[in-house]
Amino acid sequence: MAQKQLRIGTLIEAYGLHAAAWLATDPAPGAPTDIAYFQNIARICEEAKFDFFFLADTPATRTTDLEAWSRSPMYMNQLEPITLLTALAGSTSKIGLAATASTSFYEPYNIARLYASLDHISKGRAGWNVVTTANNFAAKNFGLDRLPPHDKRYAKAHEFYDVVTALWDTWEDDAWIYDREEGLTFDTAKFHPVSHKGEFFTVEGGLNIARPPQGYPVIIEAGASEAGKTFAAQTAEAVFGVATDVDEAIAFYKDLKGRMPAFGRDPDQLKVLAGATIVVGDSAEEAKARFDHWQSLIHPEVGLVRIKQDLETDLSDLDLDQPVPMDRIPEKANFHAAYFEEIKGLIAKGHTLREICQKYTRAKVTIFGSPEEVADMMQEWLEREACDGFMLTFPVLPSTLEDFRDRVVPVLQARGIFRRDYEGSTLREHLGLARPENRHVTAPALETVDG
Ligand SMILES: Cc1cc2nc3c(=O)[nH]c(=O)nc-3n(C[C@H](O)[C@H](O)[C@H](O)COP(=O)(O)O)c2cc1C
Repeated sequence: MAQKQLRIGTLIEAYGLHAAAWLATDPAPGAPTDIAYFQNIARICEEAKFDFFFLADTPATRTTDLEAWSRSPMYMNQLEPITLLTALAGSTSKIGLAATASTSFYEPYNIARLYASLDHISKGRAGWNVVTTANNFAAKNFGLDRLPPHDKRYAKAHEFYDVVTALWDTWEDDAWIYDREEGLTFDTAKFHPVSHKGEFFTVEGGLNIARPPQGYPVIIEAGASEAGKTFAAQTAEAVFGVATDVDEAIAFYKDLKGRMPAFGRDPDQLKVLAGATIVVGDSAEEAKARFDHWQSLIHPEVGLVRIKQDLETDLSDLDLDQPVPMDRIPEKANFHAAYFEEIKGLIAKGHTLREICQKYTRAKVTIFGSPEEVADMMQEWLEREACDGFMLTFPVLPSTLEDFRDRVVPVLQARGIFRRDYEGSTLREHLGLARPENRHVTAPALETVDG
């Protein structure tokens, strides 16, 4: 039997995902808004034969703790992701191009049109990460004091998805005929305007662009809550996993795929991509030493804000050079349990606050190792059905990404678990996903043969 193949996406942030990435790499002022910078990163990802290049997004800057954010400016200066991907479509030819867009802060018509355009421009390489957005900074930019409650956000996301996919089905695949003899550009029988009146949206009309080459751009999600997992089982085709170890990942994989048959879906039509941060070196020790150096570059102000966010309490009144009293730890986590537990563990070990700021990784799974060790871990997770592949993050760009392309990818290829070249040209083909039928087209009836 053919070996199961890894699917690999990567989350790209200018400079890298590490909190001090901009200090750890060669200074490239202005990289976050420089198309040439991203073209180079996308080229490296395509040389590595990744399935897709991914951009996260929240429609907001931070407006508090500016001293800290000025030292670690994630979220503060970013190109609009769909615009950036559209530009990258022109400088790449195979790699999938995916980005986040929020169901809380867009209208379905805008999203349907934007991703359909990206899918046409890239010739079938678009992916949409459907999120409900989980921060109040974004809410405040859209006339709200705070986010609507979790269940309301997910109810809205379901309806949003239904409307967007209906809009993508406005035109049958062969509606645009450009028949010069008849003098007709499209077949009116193959145009199906949407008439939708729901709790959140009212849409009466059709999408003004032909059906996307992939039918629908690939639907990606990452919600880990009950509501998030149900939504994913119903609608997602790729899910970013957030497990902290292989056993948790196996349980998540089983749980998610097990929910799909109830919605009439084949579990193979959803690819679970486990999150992992990778640092490749000559040995695990050498890679870890490099990572420790980057950790030492995290300014205490930045460290304190990261802890405030993830321990869900402000420790800035404490002496940086004293241990943190245990009674300052809140009873339980509200946002991200794994982050909370990591900080709690560091406090329990008696580290000073300054040390904690520099030791806290916020990485759920971080792999330090030689190329073979990294490949071993990836192969083990794939073979034990902990995932169908990985959503990789690289702490410092471009070096850690180049190391992966040059040193780990050839090992994965030699083991026969990762492509040597793209076999297809759309993101659906890379991921092994079926192209959705237009809902207005019924499967042709079987021909009956007389006699
Ligand atoms: C790899 C990855 C990328 C994500 N990207 C975004 C993003 O760009 N924007 C966003 O608002 N949330 C993003 N999220 C968060 C989730 O999509 C989701 O909103 C969050 O987990 C809360 O949903 P839940 O309550 O269902 O768990 C990301 C999560 C992961 C694991």
